[in-house]
Amino acid sequence: MTKLLSGKAVSARIKEEMKEQVKALKENGIYPGLAVILVGDDPASKVYVRNKKLACEYIGINSFEHLLPDTTTQEELVKLIDKLNKDASVSGILCQLPLPEHIDEDAVINAIDPKKDVDAFHPVNVGKIMTGNYDFVPCTPAGVMELIKESGIDVAGKECVIVGRSNIVGKPMAMLLLHSNGTVTICHSKTRSLADKTRNADILIAAVGIPEFIKGDMVKPGAVVIDVGINRIAPKVLVGDVEFDAAQNVAAAITPVPGGVGPMTIAMLMKNTLKAAQINKTKNKAE
Ligand code: GUN
Repeated sequence: MTKLLSGKAVSARIKEEMKEQVKALKENGIYPGLAVILVGDDPASKVYVRNKKLACEYIGINSFEHLLPDTTTQEELVKLIDKLNKDASVSGILCQLPLPEHIDEDAVINAIDPKKDVDAFHPVNVGKIMTGNYDFVPCTPAGVMELIKESGIDVAGKECVIVGRSNIVGKPMAMLLLHSNGTVTICHSKTRSLADKTRNADILIAAVGIPEFIKGDMVKPGAVVIDVGINRIAPKVLVGDVEFDAAQNVAAAITPVPGGVGPMTIAMLMKNTLKAAQINKTKNKAE
């Protein structure tokens, strides 16, 4: 029987725990607050930002939303980040990606104070992830690790195959699996004999951004399959990077899309925000 790894259920559990943690922090004079910046009106980004705000409100985290027009200059954006870096009521800063083409993403990420970088995108935090001594775990890979835990499989010694090498998912994912003693292979568009690699995976992570790219016959029987993809193929139809129906006949455990990795990413963002609140001893805006 294939196990469905419900990120919706696991994230709901984590959020309940966090509600209690927020209460305890506030009793100690620490008020977690997350500033989210969205430049432009990309429909998918708007949904993500809205879900992040709702999660903050649910847990009791102050949410500061900055919705900027796509004519915003890089200088204006960096100025806002500087202000948020200095704001004692802001624990964490997140600038939703992708940014409009006229803005240099690296310059914006570099402007965020590493102590408030709840995405863990700043080079200082990326470096810390490499060494294993980190405060903030990148949200999507952290969510994937929680779901792997949920599957009951122990990563140590397992063949872990990641399809996709992005800075946001593929690369940090490899580090987290390595820290858990997995044997890690990263595949990408130039990988030869991809199916041979994926069929060797005890843990297969799809993060390519191509709808249903991983077919059922690319999955090893009994594997744990984690689908990071969220692809809109029709106005109300979302699919992952894995051909779900075919893969679930082969896998021991698999994540659905939607309701798999997506909600976990947000739960991990909340976790990083609580960590940032403790590091920065965040004050309440009213004080
Ligand atoms: N765009 C897609 N995923 C993410 C994420 O995890 N953080 C930010 N800031 N932007 C994103």
